[in-house]
Amino acid sequence: MTSWLHLLLLQLLWPCVSPFKVCAFNAQHFGEKKAANDEVMDALVKIVQRCDICLVQEVQDPKGLAVSKLLQALNRPADLFLAVVSPSIGRKSYTEQYVFIYKKEKILVSDQYQYEDNHPSQPDVFAREPYIVRFTVRSPALRDLVIIPQHTEPDKAAVELEALYDVFTDVSSRWRCQNVVMMGDFNAGCSYLSKKKRRSLRLYTDTDFHWLISDNTDTTVRESTDCPYDRIVVYGQTLVDMVTSAGIYNFTKELRLTEAQALKVSDHYPVEMNLDLTFDSCLSLLPSISLILLGLLTAVGTKTVF
Ligand SMILES: *[C@@H]1O[C@H](CO)[C@@H](O)[C@H](O)[C@H]1NC(C)=O
Repeated sequence: MTSWLHLLLLQLLWPCVSPFKVCAFNAQHFGEKKAANDEVMDALVKIVQRCDICLVQEVQDPKGLAVSKLLQALNRPADLFLAVVSPSIGRKSYTEQYVFIYKKEKILVSDQYQYEDNHPSQPDVFAREPYIVRFTVRSPALRDLVIIPQHTEPDKAAVELEALYDVFTDVSSRWRCQNVVMMGDFNAGCSYLSKKKRRSLRLYTDTDFHWLISDNTDTTVRESTDCPYDRIVVYGQTLVDMVTSAGIYNFTKELRLTEAQALKVSDHYPVEMNLDLTFDSCLSLLPSISLILLGLLTAVGTKTVF
């Protein structure tokens, strides 16, 4: 098929039927050193390019060189990805950035802000305050999607996750948004957060929030550890109804790596959720779209014959 026709088809059909993947990945000290390792970069490209939006955490790249190298590698076949990079966030000299890499054909960034945890009763509760991004998805089924990223400090996981509820309240009054995702390396398991403690969090007791990654999921690469550190929490019935599946991406298995090779990439697996953005009233237009396409195909056929 000629490429313009292929493009036209995609443009017409993508809003009707489309899977959509949102991922969160702790890339464990991603900076210039990792970016210089070709095998690591090769795996990172394969991990990120599966996702429509990928939140990469624990990025330590103040000069932006590692992220731009990753973007270049992702965009080598075609110019598909863009990134939003947060400032370096942290206390004292240890800082990390939140990076959102997204497919620009499907998604726009409409707003972003740095959450400030300066409440008098609980000043500086977060080690890495969320850098919140509002996306506009080019789909009639889901336009607005807000992502609150969070990488907790392990020993403060319970306190920070409790405060994440206040971040949600802040964001939803600011933007009046319906679809909100909180995700990242919450350190929400093993010695850092007991099941009992997790069940006492407002993000859990308020049943409007849906935890997609269960306590039984192992999000760690090491064979010797089994902990559900990385999580995805979804708010908004429309969004919840669109979720078809969620889980980890086991890149050790999928990319046929040894444990040692995988650990060079990260000690965490990405967590991800799949959304079904099928838009019903668009489906009813399919017969008309097919007719138009048939017409076009005939026209192209005629032109080649004569
Ligand atoms: C990931 O895959 C590897 C290789 O198949 C396997 O040994 C490991 O148990 C898997 N880990 C998880 C958390 O599923």
